[in-house]
Amino acid sequence: MKKISVILVSCALITLAGCSKTDTYTPSSTISGEEIFNLNCTKCHKPEVDAVIRLSSNKASKEAILKQIQSGSMSMPAFPNIKGESGERLAKYILENSKPK
Ligand code: HEC
Repeated sequence: MKKISVILVSCALITLAGCSKTDTYTPSSTISGEEIFNLNCTKCHKPEVDAVIRLSSNKASKEAILKQIQSGSMSMPAFPNIKGESGERLAKYILENSKPK
């Protein structure tokens, strides 16, 4: 009984910390960056009138955006399968439609 509560508490903590979250969504090869964004990102990143996302200066590059998508963060799941061509398309879409924070 005690073991089970330890396991339950650990799971809750891990979920809260967000460190083990991974989204296994895999884009099809023809999907556009905008579609990937609307399918996966808008549940947390609500697009504003003039920007789909606000980027800190250290995130305002394709490389940094791709890294954020691949690795996630404290409060954002990682999307390891958004990579290659579709990762490029998504990062390009975000860069072109973002504003600085
Ligand atoms: C479960 C909610 C959630 C989802 C889904 C999500 N994000 Fe995030 N994202 C966040 C949060 C919260 C932050 C800011 C805090 C942080 O990084 O710790 C963030 C930060 C970012 C940043 C860095 C912004 C900056 O400059 O600080 C980028 C880029 C980003 N997300 C892109 C994406 C993309 C692309 C997707 C879809 C593939 C996505 N996010 C899906 C929650 C989410």
